[in-house]
Amino acid sequence: MATDKSAGLQDVIAGETAISTVGKKGVGLTYRGYSIEDLAEKSTFEQVAYLLIDGHLPNASELETYQERLVRHRELPLDLKTILEQLPGNTHPMDVMRTGCSALGNLEPEGAAHDPLAIAHRLLACFSSILLYWHHFCARGERTEVTSGEKTVAGHFLRLLHGRRPVLDLHRRMLDVSLILYAEHEFNASTFTARVIASTRSDFYSAVTGAIGALRGPLHGGANEMAMDLISRFKTADDAEKGVLQMLAKKEKIMGFGHRVYKNCDPRSEIIKSWARKLCEDANRMELFNVAERIEQVMRREKKLFPNLDFYSAVTYRVACIPTPMFTPLFVFARIAGWAAHILEQRADNRLIRPAARYIGPAPRPYVPVAQR
Ligand code: COA
Repeated sequence: MATDKSAGLQDVIAGETAISTVGKKGVGLTYRGYSIEDLAEKSTFEQVAYLLIDGHLPNASELETYQERLVRHRELPLDLKTILEQLPGNTHPMDVMRTGCSALGNLEPEGAAHDPLAIAHRLLACFSSILLYWHHFCARGERTEVTSGEKTVAGHFLRLLHGRRPVLDLHRRMLDVSLILYAEHEFNASTFTARVIASTRSDFYSAVTGAIGALRGPLHGGANEMAMDLISRFKTADDAEKGVLQMLAKKEKIMGFGHRVYKNCDPRSEIIKSWARKLCEDANRMELFNVAERIEQVMRREKKLFPNLDFYSAVTYRVACIPTPMFTPLFVFARIAGWAAHILEQRADNRLIRPAARYIGPAPRPYVPVAQR
C-alpha cells in the first residue's frame, strides 16, 4: 500500500536505467559513466547526444558523419511549414514545439521508412528549425531559410534567431555547454512521461510530444522562464534582497531554487553560474549577475535552498539576447537526447508502467436513478 512518503513518487525506485546517475553518493551526475564536469568542460553537445542515444562517445569519423547527418536533417517538410504558419503569433513557443513534434509524426511516421534511431536524430536536428521558422513567420511574415552554415545545434539556433548578426564564439560555447547540462537527468517528470507512453508500445513521436507537455510546467522546465521574470523585476542587488524577502514572507515559491533529488547543491548550477559570470563580464552587465547572486545568497541564508540549473541558465540566455519564451524550448532541444535514450531503453526491456493507487473515495453504495436524486 502507498504511504505518505511516496507522495509525488519521492524516493520510489520506478525502474532501472544505464543512462545516467543523479546525486548518487560519491558519483554525482554522470551520463553513461562520464561526469557532468568532464563533459561540460571537454565535450560538445553533439558528442553527448551521440553518447546518450548510441551508448558510447563517437570517434572522430563517427562524429563527423553524425554532425553532417544532423546538418542534413535541419530542413522541414513544406506541409510542416504550412502547419506552423497557421499557429497564432501569441502561441507559447512550447506549444509550437508540442504541435511541431506531433505534426512531424504524421508526415514522417515511425515505421519502415523512419526507424526510432532515425527519428531521434531527426528531432534533434530540426527542433530549432521548427521554432525559428514559426518565430520569423509570426514576427515578420517571413518564410525564413532553416539552413544556417553553422555546424552545431547551438550555433544553428543562434544564427537562425539573430539572422545575419555574427554568432559570438563565447555565446555559441555557452549554449553548447548549457545543452550538455540540460541533455539528461534520469527519471525526471518529462522523461518518466516519455517512458510511460513508450511502455504502452505507442510511437516515438507520441512519447516525445507527451514529454514536451510535461516539461512545459513551471515546476519542471518552465522554471527557467519564471526565474528570468523574477530576476528582471530588480534593478539592484539591494532591490532583489528586499523583493525576495517579501515574497518569502508571503510564502511564495522562488523559481529556479530547490530540487526533488539534490539536497545540498545542483552540480550543474556551479558550471552554468561560471558561464553567467563570464558572459556578464564580457557584456558589461554585472548588475544582472549581482542581482542573481544576491537572490542566491538570500535563498541560502533564509531557506537553505540552492539554485538549480534553471536559475543561472536564465542569466546566460538573457545576455545572449534569447527571448524569455524560448528558454524552455532550448531545454527541449537538449533533453530530446535524454528522452530518446530512455524511450529506446524502455522499449528494449518493456513492461507496461501501471502503478497502483490507494483508494480514498466513498464506500460502496447503491446506485440512485436520476428521478430520485
Ligand atoms: N522557493 C521557496 N520555497 C521552496 C522552494 C522554492 N523554490 N522549493 C522548495 N521550497 C520549500 C517548500 O515550500 C516546502 O516548504 P514547506 O515544507 O515549509 O512547505 C519545502 O521547501 C519542500 O518543497 P516541495 O515543493 O514539497 O519539494 P518537492 O521535492 O516536491 O519539489 C521542486 C521540488 C523542484 C518542485 C521545488 O523545489 C520547486 O517548486 N522549485 C521551484 C521550481 C523549480 O525551480 N523547478 C525546477 C526544478 S529543476
